Amino acid sequence: VVMMLYGLQFIVMCFTKYNYTEILHKSLLFYEAQRSGRLPPGNRIPWRGNSAMNDRGNNGEDLTGGYYDAGDHVKFGFPMAFSITLLAWGVVEYWDVYRTTGELDNAIDALKWGTDYLLKAHVAPNVLYGQVGDGVADHRYWGRPEDMPSGNRPAFKVDRRKPGTDLAAETAAAMAATSLAFLGSETPYVRNLITHAKQLFNFATTYRKLYHVSIPGAKKFYKSTSFKDELIWAALWIYRATGEDKYIRDAEGKYMNWGLFQLPHKLRFSWDDKKAGLQMLMVQVSRNLGYGAKRTVKNYCSAVRSRNTNYTEGGLLYLHEWSPLRYAANTAFICLMASNAGIDSEVNAAWARRQIHYMLGDSGRSYVVGFGTRSPQRPHHRSSSCPPRPQQCNWASEESPQPNHFVLNGALVGGPDYNDNFQDRRNNFKQSEVALDYNAGFQGAVAALQYQAV
Ligand SMILES: *[C@@H]1O[C@H](CO)[C@@H](O)[C@H](O)[C@H]1NC(C)=O
Repeated sequence: VVMMLYGLQFIVMCFTKYNYTEILHKSLLFYEAQRSGRLPPGNRIPWRGNSAMNDRGNNGEDLTGGYYDAGDHVKFGFPMAFSITLLAWGVVEYWDVYRTTGELDNAIDALKWGTDYLLKAHVAPNVLYGQVGDGVADHRYWGRPEDMPSGNRPAFKVDRRKPGTDLAAETAAAMAATSLAFLGSETPYVRNLITHAKQLFNFATTYRKLYHVSIPGAKKFYKSTSFKDELIWAALWIYRATGEDKYIRDAEGKYMNWGLFQLPHKLRFSWDDKKAGLQMLMVQVSRNLGYGAKRTVKNYCSAVRSRNTNYTEGGLLYLHEWSPLRYAANTAFICLMASNAGIDSEVNAAWARRQIHYMLGDSGRSYVVGFGTRSPQRPHHRSSSCPPRPQQCNWASEESPQPNHFVLNGALVGGPDYNDNFQDRRNNFKQSEVALDYNAGFQGAVAALQYQAV
């Protein structure tokens, strides 16, 4: 580590095997490429323009903005909110890394692009839009979001009659976590995030139902298993953002009563199951249960590292054949925060570094578009696959063996099969798709590695 006094600023230069700064920079560009709605003058993705400008609620509410989910153009509220919560967590924990690498403003912009939309979608205390776009109709279209037929854009909400506890709670968590990224500045925007987060938490607590029952179109894509984890997760985030006792008491009570100190199903930490995340968050914020939660997180990371857990021969943690990299990255993020909290610091850090380095090139290739050697050329992603105008974009663009026309910088793809084989083919979406949630824990883990390197 070399520190130079440069004017009035310290410039920290550090030499790591992979350039973490470059990855943070590009990962944020990936989120920028996923933006829906009217793009600001500073848009850094030259092949993207305004899109879905007529996204509206059932009563004409403005629902433009937010993020497209993956290679497609649906705005799925549940994974979108989770991705924002997770991204915000990395920014809150590793704020100094974002500042010193010069990415703080980009990171805040990425979070705010998400919460601006979530605030709009929360049209009344007990009404929240949770999806724009029909998944089935949307998936029949291969083209640019800018050219999308507007008939594909129905909007779906949850309300008192048809509630969505998990969706409302996750959205509350995203707002509360993002408010913390502004680091204590008491701006009207931060106050607004807190107000909406509390209302949504109240809505989630009072009217309980799995959201995909109320928004059945989400079921095929993002079916939720339980809302217990989101209720605790949201209460912890609101407590962290406000310091109000009733939220931590609520979270601690439910955590004990519902037994959420158990290992998560198949060790996965994901948009569906937040157990491992809320256990780590409990360590960070709870005076009463933090100590016990430390043991829980210690057990989680050691179960993950155990030789009874599935690994590829190349050393990748393999928790799911669909997009294994995001599960490995999410767990790496948890175990790096555990490392920072003094939980088996050395082994957890070394383990997590190996997982992330597998993705960055140690496996013989990079799994991050536009980064490193042999990076994916054909991510399953419509807008970057489309040729420049005025050429047409359609299913032939998807089927073409050519690389995507534009480089979707920073996107983490799904990943290899159990034999460490990866097909860089656009129509192999099990391996080559990208998504908001894939990059979120991944980016936090990279920020944590940079933190440990300095
Ligand atoms: C790492 O990447 C950043 C951003 O792309 C760049 O400015 C920097 O020079 C790179 N550092 C090294 C050591 O190559």
